[in-house]
Amino acid sequence: MRLFNLVLSSAAIAAALPTPETSEGNQSQPFTPNGLAPWNAGAVTQFPIHSSCNATQRRQIELGLNETITLAQHAKDHILRWRNESAIYQKYFSDRPSMEAIGAFDIVINGDKKDVLFRCDNPDGNCNNEGWAGHWRGENGTDETVICDLSYETRRSLSTMCGLGYTVSESETNTFWAGDLLHRLYHVSAIGQNWIDHFADGYEEVVDLAKTNATLTTRDSETLQYFALEAYAFDIAVPGVGCPGVQHEHEHDEPEATSQPTPTATATDAPSTTAEVPANCHTHDGGVLHCT
Ligand SMILES: *[C@@H]1O[C@H](CO)[C@@H](O)[C@H](O)[C@H]1NC(C)=O
Ligand SMILES: *[C@@H]1O[C@H](CO)[C@@H](O)[C@H](O)[C@H]1NC(C)=O
Ligand SMILES: *[C@@H]1O[C@H](CO)[C@@H](O)[C@H](O)[C@H]1NC(C)=O
Ligand SMILES: *[C@@H]1O[C@H](CO)[C@@H](O)[C@H](O)[C@H]1NC(C)=O
Ligand SMILES: *[C@@H]1O[C@H](CO)[C@@H](O)[C@H](O)[C@H]1NC(C)=O
Ligand SMILES: *[C@@H]1O[C@H](CO)[C@@H](O)[C@H](O)[C@H]1NC(C)=O
Ligand SMILES: [Zn+2]
Repeated sequence: MRLFNLVLSSAAIAAALPTPETSEGNQSQPFTPNGLAPWNAGAVTQFPIHSSCNATQRRQIELGLNETITLAQHAKDHILRWRNESAIYQKYFSDRPSMEAIGAFDIVINGDKKDVLFRCDNPDGNCNNEGWAGHWRGENGTDETVICDLSYETRRSLSTMCGLGYTVSESETNTFWAGDLLHRLYHVSAIGQNWIDHFADGYEEVVDLAKTNATLTTRDSETLQYFALEAYAFDIAVPGVGCPGVQHEHEHDEPEATSQPTPTATATDAPSTTAEVPANCHTHDGGVLHCT
């Protein structure tokens, strides 16, 4: 009975169509508009920037995003060339297979950019908070990132990498537009896919994560940022030297240490570690904001 009804109603619908025989016999007809377009018609290859950004803001965000792609591209290239033979790779990702990290960088470079938006109009008022350089809009706009005026004053070009006192271990990842925007992009679900997340906060925790819970490293936002910055510094900015900064030796390290001139006094370690914790906010639970 149910089947009969189904057949009957299908027939009724077919009868209602203007020319059922041609639409069935002429396969090309319903698909004609798509059939003529390339498979990737409508692809968005540049990150959209909202009309609330004026000419100077738009230009700086665009340059910053271009440098983000430069940074991600080099990180990917470094892994593709060296895999886990790279000491930098081992430091941040330990023994993990390389495909997840490669993909995390590639989606920034080549992923469709339709569901990503940068805006400048401070719609949530968060830019009024002291020290905020931008934020993800969370429940007010999951695809949207607000860039505040402070960013234009503080973020640096990758061309200054290893200059002006920057070191990978002792400076913030958001020193550069590229590191900052890479972080912000990973909060957008089209890019980070709610898979890349924060499992470690700051350089020390990131290095520790590779030693204690390496499975998480290839989808840890800060690990990906630190790795990309260190690879860029070492390969591109100051080839063969980079600017890794002070490398702490940890208790769980192998007794045979590297040639790094490491500070021996553990007493000096503690304060410097504390000083590395960013003074400005970084709250991430349930899609909440993070600043600076
Ligand atoms: C198939 O559809 C196209 C587009 O409407 C039409 O130009 C063509 O004549 C049709 N061919 C047949 C065999 O009906
Ligand atoms: C864009 O807006 C910023 C912040 O309001 C302002 O400082 C800057 O002068 C503006 N640029 C132009 C070209 O209007
Ligand atoms: C950013 O890169 C795109 C694509 O290469 C280019 O068209 C655009 O001019 C660049 N923007 C800036 C501000 O350099
Ligand atoms: C590097 O990866 C290979 C497999 O590709 C594995 O056999 C080897 O143990 C890894 N080495 C390190 C130091 O993780
Ligand atoms: C979302 O908007 C509400 C109301 O304006 C505001 O209180 C809240 O802080 C906003 N959330 C974010 C993540 O900006
Ligand atoms: C590793 O991370 C997972 C996921 O956060 C957690 O469940 C597990 O307890 C962690 N293991 C260690 C040894 O910290
Ligand atoms: Zn974050």
